[in-house]
Amino acid sequence: MKSSDLRKKFLNFFEERDHKIVPSSSLVPKDDPSVLLTTAGMQQFKSYYLGTANPETDFGSKNTATVQKSFRTSDIEGVGDDTHLTFFEMLGNFSFGGYWKKEAIKYAIEFLESELKIDHNRIHSTYFAGAEGIPADSVSLAELKNYFDDSKIVPQGRGDNFWGPTGDQGPCGPTVEFYVDGTEIWNVVFNEFYCKLDKTLVPIEGTGGVRGIDTGMGLERLSVVMQAKKNVFETDLFASLTKDFPPIEDRVARIILDHFRAAVFLISDGVAPSNKDRGYILRRLLRRAFMYAKINNFPAEGPKNFIIDLINLYKEQYPELESNQQRILDVIYDERKKFGASIDLGLKQFEKSYQADAQFVTGKAVFDLVTTFGFPKELVEEIAKQKNVQVDWPEFEQEFQKHQELSRSASAGMFKGGLADNSEKVVRLHTATHLMNAALRKVLGTNVWQKGSNITEERTRFDFAHGEKLKDEQKAEVEKLVNEWIARDLIVKRDTMPLAGARELDAIGVFGEKYPDTVSIYTIYDPKSDEIISREFCGGPHVEHTGVIGKFKIQKEEAVSAGVRRIKATIE
Ligand code: ALA
Repeated sequence: MKSSDLRKKFLNFFEERDHKIVPSSSLVPKDDPSVLLTTAGMQQFKSYYLGTANPETDFGSKNTATVQKSFRTSDIEGVGDDTHLTFFEMLGNFSFGGYWKKEAIKYAIEFLESELKIDHNRIHSTYFAGAEGIPADSVSLAELKNYFDDSKIVPQGRGDNFWGPTGDQGPCGPTVEFYVDGTEIWNVVFNEFYCKLDKTLVPIEGTGGVRGIDTGMGLERLSVVMQAKKNVFETDLFASLTKDFPPIEDRVARIILDHFRAAVFLISDGVAPSNKDRGYILRRLLRRAFMYAKINNFPAEGPKNFIIDLINLYKEQYPELESNQQRILDVIYDERKKFGASIDLGLKQFEKSYQADAQFVTGKAVFDLVTTFGFPKELVEEIAKQKNVQVDWPEFEQEFQKHQELSRSASAGMFKGGLADNSEKVVRLHTATHLMNAALRKVLGTNVWQKGSNITEERTRFDFAHGEKLKDEQKAEVEKLVNEWIARDLIVKRDTMPLAGARELDAIGVFGEKYPDTVSIYTIYDPKSDEIISREFCGGPHVEHTGVIGKFKIQKEEAVSAGVRRIKATIE
């Protein structure tokens, strides 16, 4: 049975039983700051369980059913085996103060056995047997006994058969789960408690809410069962997408399939790559996918037309994918462009680092690759495995610890970093400040020395030694240079080295500053010409390449004291 038929069958089944069909909510939850992304079908219905909204007013029924787009971050690392996915579709039926355990269990068994014709002997169930002061769900147990022998009803504890809350408080309760051939496919939750902020449970009805049903059945797993496949990637939700894949390891193909599919849905729902929150999740998925594609000799964004094939496969169920197609492609290509230069340089660097001894790479070299080119460590592991090269991981760990000590001393003020925090905006302004320092030295001369700086989300404030007020043309020239460097998308690279070595490289620092024996240096350079634009003593953090900084503007230039000027500048 095709997955598209499974979606339809599920919704029809519940529609015939007085459920209102509701569209999937966005992967970006509305009005719920407690969660980053939608992880379950019940999220869009929280207010109906809580009694702050009325389902009959909104849906004309106390019951609903959905096919919900869902995303679980916790599974990123697990992707590659037979079952783990980040993005998945969840079939769910819900009731808010309507039917209860008896009907919910009956519907589930009826759907599996009568509608889908799954043999009764292939199915078993689990229920909550009580734990941590919460009583056993004896009502569900009695109900299950009407359908199954005792051997097919497995008692479980809180870790397995108790669900919720999503976020730090909310509806939750015991569950009954259904398994086919030993694989869990359907979770039926009875929201009869409210979990308070202090983690105590109270009956939900005492809080003004209603008892409710919340179920979730993974479409991918159900497709495995119904299409008699060995794993989710062999079902029609993925199989047609691999037609142009060269022969590669299953695990790698699965990572590429999962990550691009998730990225397409996240972008369609309005997520943009960034260094924070959901934007960071998207960036991580895309960069892992680009990297795996690249080291397996695909174009970084997958085989030709891969993203469009993905959109075509899902657009019947999710028409928004088609209307958002151009934006989806733009965001992916744009992110690839930003990361592409780092991938190429990093790969070259990696190859160089083991040329001397083809079987071995030092931990230091790998550390540089990770910190300088923004390579996730796991990808270094991956390339090393593919190329059959050994890495000195203990040395890598040592380097990493040294780096953390350096960062700590940096944040303790040793480098007069003066960053308000490590937010994305502050980090971008920080790199912009290095560019401004370089531009000032170019326009006003190398007698310009930094005296201090202070960076908040709003602006960078930079004090420097210079005898006179800046002319308008000089300010305009500094702005122009900085914006040109931003537009050239220069690489920002970090090295740690002995102080003497840094002095030899003419790295600039803060005037009068005493530096430790081992220092951290940031170099901003053009990967095409190797031209070095800036090289400063600095503990970071910085962006990986200047293209992400935004438009730079000087807002104010004034005197602080005799011979010291101050610039306040912003980025947009
Ligand atoms: N909310 C339950 C789950 O996601 C059904 O498993």
